[in-house]
Amino acid sequence: MSQLIQLGGINERPKAPKGDTLKLHFSDEAIHELNALMTHYPDKKSCILPGLWIAQREYGGFLSGEAIAEVAHRLERSYAEVEGVATFYSMYNTAHAVGKHMIEVCTCLSCHMCGAYRIADHLKEKLGIGFGETTPDGLFTLHEVECLNACDRAPLLQIGSDYHGPVDAAYVDRLIDELRTKETSSVTQLADDIVKVHLRDVEKIR
Ligand code: FES
Repeated sequence: MSQLIQLGGINERPKAPKGDTLKLHFSDEAIHELNALMTHYPDKKSCILPGLWIAQREYGGFLSGEAIAEVAHRLERSYAEVEGVATFYSMYNTAHAVGKHMIEVCTCLSCHMCGAYRIADHLKEKLGIGFGETTPDGLFTLHEVECLNACDRAPLLQIGSDYHGPVDAAYVDRLIDELRTKETSSVTQLADDIVKVHLRDVEKIR
């Protein structure tokens, strides 16, 4: 039975902030990181991708219109240009808040053949949500993704920076229990890890 493959469920158009007054949210550390990153590139436009990762961390794991406007402001680009980049890449979460933990289920060929949709159905039933949705307690978002490039571990899940696979229903149950008690958000942790990868050692301050 074929299933519709959903692309970019988390990746919708954010709402641009209204009015002329922009509230800036970046922490001192984030401003330091952005300034350091700007020295890596020939111009500010080239810094949009890492700038968006900083914003994704600073704004709690997703890129609201305000977050995109702040990146545009700090890099002296237009809102439309930065929004275009943010909505092109599925790893940026735009338009609506995501949960503390994003569970990304690969349903591409190898994972599909190894039972990815059975795992997805198990997760949907356990969490009471579908792809692109967040649990009412704000803990989990479920997302369907294309090949994560670790097909030898199919069926595979990505949560934050971690890959889990091959997984079965019992593994998934243990994983959910562990995540429920985890203090840090795997979504913002992933954004922070990626920002740090872009920085030189002397530029890291935390
Ligand atoms: S098909 Fe799932 S990791 Fe490649």
